[in-house]
Amino acid sequence: MREFILRARTAKTGDFNANDLPAAGRMDSVCASVSNALNIANALRKDTIIHVVLEGSPEPPKLLTFCGDRIKGMAWDEKSIGEFIKKALIKARGKAERIDACEGLFVEKKSFEALVKEKLKDGKQVVYLHHEGKDIREAALKEDIVVVFGDYIGMPRATEGLLDRLGAERISLGPKMLFAAHCILIMHNELDRRFK
Ligand SMILES: C[S@@+](CC[C@H](N)C(=O)[O-])C[C@H]1O[C@@H](n2cnc3c(N)ncnc32)[C@H](O)[C@@H]1O
Repeated sequence: MREFILRARTAKTGDFNANDLPAAGRMDSVCASVSNALNIANALRKDTIIHVVLEGSPEPPKLLTFCGDRIKGMAWDEKSIGEFIKKALIKARGKAERIDACEGLFVEKKSFEALVKEKLKDGKQVVYLHHEGKDIREAALKEDIVVVFGDYIGMPRATEGLLDRLGAERISLGPKMLFAAHCILIMHNELDRRFK
């Protein structure tokens, strides 16, 4: 299973206007990442999960988990993904437990750090995407992998320290600083080539 974890530090955790995704704490970047994680031409990536930890107001943190093998009823343009997320957040309002808010989209109250620790406890390889990390072309990657990355603000320094201590290797996708949604496509491509 491929898993991505995006930390979205300002994305709204309650109601928002799906016609203005940038104003919802850069929810446009969240929606583009979800689309790139799960979509390929004429199909969905059933072997992929994307988790997004939303840390904006009013109820942070909220963890969204989109499962490629279960998601149904979502159109794949950014506005439609935004509407799907909005509906799920409204259903999850005031709830801490994990709920299947829409088919294949789960919502719960969980922090980024707690999720990463859970994945490591499950024995997964966790890598942290960082432009100054080890070149992906030289990195040993497992098919069963969890790929962690930041949003337009980047990862807090304290969390970077924690990821280092937990043993999440820093992996670079190249010399340019990329958008979060671009990183997903490059990572998918690399894994597609290695694990055909
Ligand atoms: C738009 S970038 C973050 C920009 C932010 N201002 C910063 O300085 O960290 C979003 C995320 O994509 C990942 N990323 C961007 N470029 C990368 C690269 N060349 N290699 C690996 N990861 C990259 C990092 O995880 C980063 O936090």
